[in-house]
Amino acid sequence: MAYSLLAISGSLRKDSYNTALIRAWKKFAPEDVTVEIVDQEDIRVFPPYDGDVETANYPSVATALKERIRKADGLLIATPEYNRSVPGVLKNLLDWTTRPYGDNPYSGKPVFVMGASSGPIGTALAQYDLKKILLYFNARVLGQPEFYCGVATEKFDETGNLTDEKTKEYIAHGFTEFTAFIDTLR
Ligand code: FNR
Repeated sequence: MAYSLLAISGSLRKDSYNTALIRAWKKFAPEDVTVEIVDQEDIRVFPPYDGDVETANYPSVATALKERIRKADGLLIATPEYNRSVPGVLKNLLDWTTRPYGDNPYSGKPVFVMGASSGPIGTALAQYDLKKILLYFNARVLGQPEFYCGVATEKFDETGNLTDEKTKEYIAHGFTEFTAFIDTLR
């Protein structure tokens, strides 16, 4: 079985650990899995959500991303933790891509939530907020394994390559469980 996954990082920072994390997922994907990463510049151009803009001129970036989400067999979302929750940039993207009301590409979509932070709890609290939002979308959020990449400062080299062997094992296990989860929903 082949699996086509779309990966989103909730950070715009060039040296983002979350973006480095989804790059590692792409790099270590098994042969039957392709991981396509949403470019950070395609996230940066989302305007702040505004209902008047939605009515008058729905952003083409949101239409394009919704189409990619619909086509994917599953989503990988890596969220930073800002003040114990999801960054505004990611929430804004989620808000736009669930509009107009009723046109929701996340419904029934398998999602693997993960995150990386410099702190020790590895975005645990942000991930719980994100999972709560995704459940409201009727997405199929994988419960186990969880994926908390804490103290990311010690797990990547200066060019953003994952060097931590344990994290590589967690990624391999994550792929096994997530693809099995997708199979149960096919
Ligand atoms: C943070 N950071 C942070 N870390 C954490 O573990 N829990 C938190 O609540 C917060 N809060 C927070 C708020 C704001 C406004 C910023 C800018 C940062 C630190 C954060 O984990 C760190 O900056 C990461 O490197 C952000 O992710 P990226 O950009 O590396 O992917």
